[in-house]
Amino acid sequence: MNICVIGGAGYVGLVTGLGFAELKHKVINVDLNSEKVEILNNGASPIYEEGIKDLLRKNLKEGRITFTADLESGAKHADVIFIAVGTPKRDGGEADLTQVIDVAEDLLKYIDSYKVIVVKSTVPVGTVELVCSILKRGKVEGQDFDIVANPEFLREGKGLYDFFYPARIVVGANSDKAKQSMRQLYAPFLSLESNAQSLLQNSGSRPLSFTAQPSTPLVETDIASAQMIKYASNAFLAARISFINEIASICNRLGADVNEVARGMGYDPRIGHEYLEAGIGFGGPCLEKDLKALIRIAENNNYEPRLLSAVLERNEYQVRQVVAKLKELTGYLLYKKIIAIFGLSFKPGTNDVRTSLSLRIIDQLEKEGAIVRAYDPIAISEAKKIKPDIEYCEDPYKAVTRADALMILTDWDELRRLDFERIKEEMASLNIVDGRNIMDTSMLKRLGFNYIGIGRR
Ligand SMILES: NC(=O)c1ccc[n+]([C@@H]2O[C@H](COP(=O)([O-])OP(=O)(O)OC[C@H]3O[C@@H](n4cnc5c(N)ncnc54)[C@H](O)[C@@H]3O)[C@@H](O)[C@H]2O)c1
Repeated sequence: MNICVIGGAGYVGLVTGLGFAELKHKVINVDLNSEKVEILNNGASPIYEEGIKDLLRKNLKEGRITFTADLESGAKHADVIFIAVGTPKRDGGEADLTQVIDVAEDLLKYIDSYKVIVVKSTVPVGTVELVCSILKRGKVEGQDFDIVANPEFLREGKGLYDFFYPARIVVGANSDKAKQSMRQLYAPFLSLESNAQSLLQNSGSRPLSFTAQPSTPLVETDIASAQMIKYASNAFLAARISFINEIASICNRLGADVNEVARGMGYDPRIGHEYLEAGIGFGGPCLEKDLKALIRIAENNNYEPRLLSAVLERNEYQVRQVVAKLKELTGYLLYKKIIAIFGLSFKPGTNDVRTSLSLRIIDQLEKEGAIVRAYDPIAISEAKKIKPDIEYCEDPYKAVTRADALMILTDWDELRRLDFERIKEEMASLNIVDGRNIMDTSMLKRLGFNYIGIGRR
């Protein structure tokens, strides 16, 4: 098929375009940001994701994907047009739909033959219908276009893996013709004789072979339910994190260890292990934004979502708790204290620092007069764009030099393997707040560190 992905230089758009190119479709990724377009056409990626550079170079070379800022050429080329632009949070919490609406207005000018328009961005119920009504101002539904809601569930850091191994594919559509196109597009994921092969290189250039998973569940539903499935899924994941953070606070007072509690809970197939890790809370580009949007959607429809509001409040409380733990170790006044931070991205495997709680905690430390020195294996250059004023260190051992405390805020695997004997030599005071519960507590205590985790013994 000929595919156009609008927002094609963003996280979702890039992974989607590359994934379909790898499945032998002819893809044009359109993005307003011509700087990112140029970077991508030169074979480099503006985002960090395992395997993305190799897949990009391969598909550029084989002529299956191109990047452009020209929506007209992308739209005219396509049978299927994905809208994967951003839906950021407005100040009041609701989703800002400006980018989606702008795209719909542009498509109205450029649609010249039948297209399936697929909204992949996370949007409140009613938005896909709004896109449809914009297009209907000049085009005929069913004849010039059909509209589909196809929410995205990829996890940053595992984006390509999630493209090739989706847990489910959700398609909300009214038109049979559009449903048929989506079945055809997603056929490699739905059939047992999958031919979707893709060879990816991971960061250590060890080849990873991805084969689209046979018989992924296809949830064909109405448009409103499809949009709601995405919000409900993210709200549920956020609730799990707030839940286990609540349990961690209770563990703290009882001498129980929340890591052990979560381990024991997770084996129950009704519960599972995922998103059951106590820590600094949920950050990142989606969970908080989508939870806030869902709360506003409910309120705007005369419903007070008490449970969802509690999930959000509990998350905000958690950030304050983490700073309070630091003060428990260092003394109440942080003024001129040197605080080393390990981890800036909102999770490992990505350089995305948008709404990272690590940056929010750093803001808090700065407000209280602390001197912050931060290390992250890959997210420093992204963090500098948002927070140019703190000291960044490419070497973790430099970051801890003369530090009064170390805070671990992203669960990068490599942090577990650092030489804590050496860190001990560098630090002025041996205080560690492990905001991700990843460290070996007995090793740190043996070395003489004052260690505080989240609900750990
Ligand atoms: N990032 C994730 O992990 C993730 C996961 C699932 C769903 N989502 C949802 O997917 C959507 C996209 O998220 P993202 O993280 O990829 O956003 P992003 O900000 O990384 O990318 C959006 C891209 O759209 C481009 N853009 C904006 N307006 C445009 C226009 N008129 N024409 C062409 N390009 C335009 C921007 O330049 C940007 O490159 C959001 O609704 C988000 O909630 C994101």
